[in-house]
Amino acid sequence: MGKRISFASRIFQKVESILKCRAKAMSQKEKQCALLFDEMSLKKGVEYSEKLDLVEGVKDLGFLGRSNIFGTHALVFMLRGIFCKWNIPVCYFISSGVTGTEMKDMLVECIKWLQAIGFDIRTTVCDQRCLSLYENYLELDRVEGDTSAKFHYFWLRDHCRCPKCYNHVTNQINNDVKTIPFNIRPKFCEEVEGKLNITWPDEHKTEYDINLLKKLISTRAKPQNVPVHWDVETLKSITDNSITSKEYFENSDEPTLEATEKVVRHTTRVSKTIFGEMWEVNNNLEVQDTAYTTVGLDAHTDNTYFSEASGLMVFHLIERNCKGGKTLLVDGFNAISNLKRVDRDAFNLLTTNPIESQYIATDTHFTSVEPVIKLHPVTKQLLQIRYNHYDRAYLNTIPFDSIMDYYKAYIKLGEEIKKPSNEYWLQLEPGTVLFLDNWRILHGRGEYSGNRMLTGCYVTRRDWTCAANREGLPLY
Ligand SMILES: [Fe+2]
Ligand SMILES: [Zn+2]
Repeated sequence: MGKRISFASRIFQKVESILKCRAKAMSQKEKQCALLFDEMSLKKGVEYSEKLDLVEGVKDLGFLGRSNIFGTHALVFMLRGIFCKWNIPVCYFISSGVTGTEMKDMLVECIKWLQAIGFDIRTTVCDQRCLSLYENYLELDRVEGDTSAKFHYFWLRDHCRCPKCYNHVTNQINNDVKTIPFNIRPKFCEEVEGKLNITWPDEHKTEYDINLLKKLISTRAKPQNVPVHWDVETLKSITDNSITSKEYFENSDEPTLEATEKVVRHTTRVSKTIFGEMWEVNNNLEVQDTAYTTVGLDAHTDNTYFSEASGLMVFHLIERNCKGGKTLLVDGFNAISNLKRVDRDAFNLLTTNPIESQYIATDTHFTSVEPVIKLHPVTKQLLQIRYNHYDRAYLNTIPFDSIMDYYKAYIKLGEEIKKPSNEYWLQLEPGTVLFLDNWRILHGRGEYSGNRMLTGCYVTRRDWTCAANREGLPLY
């Protein structure tokens, strides 16, 4: 046995006889022990040992064989008494990262050998991250805390980022997923110094950074950035200006439409919709929309009738010769989370039942059918509120039996939005440009009399998330 496990049998015979002596001198209780093993990193290098008559420093897994690649780690086995205080180093191997199978084989051989000598091994202890290879996937132990991570071989082959498989200039995949055999298995696979190296049957090589795999696993189903929800009270205490936690204000040199546009174009693009690019809202009956009157407006989001509602709304009040006309903001996500807490069924109805919204004007008829509350398809985090009770079409998307429950849920959310504790009223002033997230923040207006001119524009969600990604701002 000693011969099989050792890479230098002469040394092992010596160790074996020492171990036998030690075991002989112990009582049955004293012999009960734990087998500890650990990998320590080594400096790369080789040296001829005259004593052993071999080159040391290359990969040498004893009975699993030697190879001519540099060893990077020493895998050390040690015995430790359970009831009595004793420690004996028993053997070591030079590795360059061992696979789960190699590890298992060495461990089994080592245990058999030590049992034959007379030790009573009760447990094994290690802090290794092990790589285990299965039929069609591999498993990395303890990738995150105590959880292991599994990856299909097919997935690993598909996502190869070598220059042949992936174009690093265009950031596009060259690999044709249709050409990968479903039963693909690595010819060789090892974990070395934070890298997972795979050689495929056709000698193609793939390398993964373990940290990247770790990151991919941890972001698979977890919410990314959970925005800080606010009501009137908490809004006072939010001091940072990050776009996802508080609405965003910019200053403009002058209260004109052109200056407003300049502020917007500084960071992103202006969206072109049926309302044009930059718009002016005043008391104008030519436009077929309630916004162009002097009446008050309940909190709502815009563009529920578009297949993609605008991501940002920009407001700049450039003229204020009026009484009233304050701006109302409500955090829709806060209202939703309050609703979810008190009435889970209502929340579920609003997330699962799509309703139709519409915008009808001369030569124009927009409609879109979607739920009022949209969740991230994977993380189930809040993604969008589409709440505009003015723009609802005939409610014919809900089964007859659910219609009244749906109405109750919709009204409950409306009541939550209308709670004074959620309503943040502010007076916009010429010179201050307000950016708000139309997928989350509802806006409204107080009734007014006199002249009031609001300029602004829409920014698509894709343009502002692009700007946010570019600037490294957190997104939800
Ligand atoms: Fe609006
Ligand atoms: Zn490749």
